[in-house]
Amino acid sequence: MTNSFPEGFAWGTATASYQIEGAVDEDGRGPSIWDTFARTPGKTANGDTGDIACDHYHRYAEDVDLMASLNFTHYRFSIAWPRIQPTGSGAFNQAGFDFYQRLIDKLLETGVQPWVTLYHWDLPQPLEDAGGWPVRDTAERFADYAAETYARLNDRVQYWTTLNEPWCSAYLGYGNGVHAPGRQEPEKTIAAVHHLNLGHGLAVERMRSIRADRQLGITHNTPIVAPATDSPEDKDAARRADGFGLRMFLDPILLGRYPEDMLEDLRAAQVDLSFLKEGDEKLIAQPIDVLGINYYNPSTVRRRAEPEPEGTVRLYPGGGDLEGVKRGFPESDMGWEIEPDALRRLLVKIHTNYPPIALYVTENGMACKDVVADDGTVDDPDRISYFDGHLRSCRQAIEEGVDLRGYFAWTFTDNFEWSFAFTKRFGLVYVDYATQERIAKSSAAWFAGVAKSNALPE
Ligand code: NOJ
Repeated sequence: MTNSFPEGFAWGTATASYQIEGAVDEDGRGPSIWDTFARTPGKTANGDTGDIACDHYHRYAEDVDLMASLNFTHYRFSIAWPRIQPTGSGAFNQAGFDFYQRLIDKLLETGVQPWVTLYHWDLPQPLEDAGGWPVRDTAERFADYAAETYARLNDRVQYWTTLNEPWCSAYLGYGNGVHAPGRQEPEKTIAAVHHLNLGHGLAVERMRSIRADRQLGITHNTPIVAPATDSPEDKDAARRADGFGLRMFLDPILLGRYPEDMLEDLRAAQVDLSFLKEGDEKLIAQPIDVLGINYYNPSTVRRRAEPEPEGTVRLYPGGGDLEGVKRGFPESDMGWEIEPDALRRLLVKIHTNYPPIALYVTENGMACKDVVADDGTVDDPDRISYFDGHLRSCRQAIEEGVDLRGYFAWTFTDNFEWSFAFTKRFGLVYVDYATQERIAKSSAAWFAGVAKSNALPE
């Protein structure tokens, strides 16, 4: 097998607005659910917020220069909805568009292709106050924001994804509440899933009618699930985890219908499905050009034999008997197991089970306990071997027929890792938060070599 990637393969890094930008009160930006959540005591590590983060709002030009010097061909970033439309509906904010215009101009000037994510979790707070994603109107508001943003920026941006990891928005935001808005109402999560799917479909429909020839799609963190044992109970737990995580999203988008076994389970669990309206599945199934897959770790589940510990907050409605288990693989600093071959299996599975679609790995990466050495360098061999292993897995998937067009490392600089705030470092570039100094880690140099040669080292 060759170590080279197909010609034109996209090599990128990915980031998200709230994780890097800072400048939360500047130029008319409104508050988002992450501002509110991070400022609520006890929700994030050390009570830290994204108020300053990597100060990318002011340092974007030097960040892009560094990115270009590392040979990256693409950059996936998200637009903060509350910068563009401070209250989530009504008036748009010109200063918000201006920032992204400057960023995009800078990227194009340095030869890096911009890839826009329209929603990476920073819902304008007034929309949450009106009910958030469990409410249908949020999907309509998202489509308005997406259409206006696309109308203004499509001249220079070829790649557009609507949502990033709606699984997290629905289940972590409204199920166990570890993400904003922090609600613990598992029975509402399926309405949130549906309105996220609907928001995606409505947005793509509007965007396509404004300009048809751009690459439009969505990014999912589809799990690759295995049962802990061959028992019928564990196999059923795996079916359900795959249903909640992968099929509740990919089936309506790519096949035009929700999985029947999941709907049956939900009805049996007395979940009110009246939010599902006639014609919705058709709206969700707008043709898309690209599907982004974010992958970090494999998932193994079993049916919990014993009663749930008291105070357990469920992710899923009726899902209390589902439990993740570890298989003994090495772990990252997040405690996530590392199994590179699972990425190949996931890509092949999607390629096999769904109609043809161009796939991109839109995130993959590893948190490590990085330290700055006395000579000022940061050496991260574990991260290099993580990337190497997962890229070999991508190569193998391509060999097996998967139409994989690109790979984005998570992430460019260390940043605000949601509820873990600044305690976890995923970057190719180290950030000293006290000085905002950037130090390219050894993984950045390694990656620059891969991107330049479009191949893995022998
Ligand atoms: C997925 C999310 O899209 C990103 O925001 C997050 O930082 C990484 N996973 C790592 O947890």
